[in-house]
This record gives sequence, C-alpha cells and structure tokens, in this order.
Amino acid sequence: MKLPENVQNVMRNGHNVWVATTGEDGTPNIAIKGSGSLLDDENLFFADLFSKKTRANLLKNDSVAVAIYEPDDDVAVQVKGKASFVDSGPLFDKVSDTIAGLQAGLPPVKSVVKITVESVWDLSAGPNSGERIV
Ligand SMILES: Cc1cc2nc3c(=O)[nH]c(=O)nc-3n(C[C@H](O)[C@H](O)[C@H](O)COP(=O)(O)O)c2cc1C
Repeated sequence: MKLPENVQNVMRNGHNVWVATTGEDGTPNIAIKGSGSLLDDENLFFADLFSKKTRANLLKNDSVAVAIYEPDDDVAVQVKGKASFVDSGPLFDKVSDTIAGLQAGLPPVKSVVKITVESVWDLSAGPNSGERIV
C-alpha cells in the first residue's frame, strides 16, 4: 500500500508523529515520536529510544496507528499498519548514526520500528474527514 505523495514529502526529512498501540487488555496507548520518517513509499519508521508501553504493546500486537499533522503542507492523516522491530543491519546503523549525530544527549537506539502501511485515513477538518484515502 503506497503512501500518498504529499504524505511522503512531509515524512521524507523526518516529522513528529503520534503512535497509537493497544495493550493486551485493550487499553489504548499513544506516544509522540520525533524520529518519525519515511523509509520508502510503503513504509515509515521511528527510532525506539524511550518506548515502554509502545514497545511492550507492539511486541504482543503489531497493529499500529500513526497520526501525522503538518498544516503548512495540508497533511492531516492517520496511517494504519503493521510494526516490525529492526535491531541490526543497514537501516538500524543509519538511524543510530543519525540520532548520535544530533548530539542531543539521547540514548542509543534500541530498535528501529518499521511500519508497513496498510491504509491511510483523512484526519482533516473538512468534508472528507474520517474517510479512507488509500
Ligand atoms: C517531542 C518528543 C519527541 C519524542 N520522540 C521520541 C522518539 O523519537 N523515540 C522514542 O522512543 N521516544 C520519543 N519520545 C518519548 C515518547 O513520547 C514517550 O515518552 C515514550 O515512548 C514512553 O511512552 P510509552 O510508555 O507510551 O511508550 C518523544 C517525546 C517528545 C516529547
């Protein structure tokens, strides 16, 4: 499932995203991930640095929803998909280097969480709000 071009453009150089997961008992959880980014036209990712409930939930249930909002580019979408943990290899090394290079005192990357897109939904405040885009 391909992300729309405008969503790809917003995510290409990284963007804050809100990541929603579900606990084993059905409790919803949401966390901000400033490391949200585009991997390719069918996958997003974020760096797992601090995740507790997000990580625990995704290890039991890989369903994830990600909200992306960038008013300047008129992007307000929810991406639903499946998460997988990448703990080594070129993507992990690249993201680890990027985070270390920020020199922001952040901890080492535990995992890169790859999100494979399954559907995209309109979160705008308008006539198409709530509708499926792809
Ligand atoms: C602006 C901002 C950006 C953040 N970016 C990340 C991030 O990229 N990766 C990460 O693991 N945690 C990040 N966090 C921390 C998470 O929002 C959250 O505190 C962490 O996942 C623990 O919550 P959880 O138990 O619900 O997972 C960020 C927090 C803020 C305020």
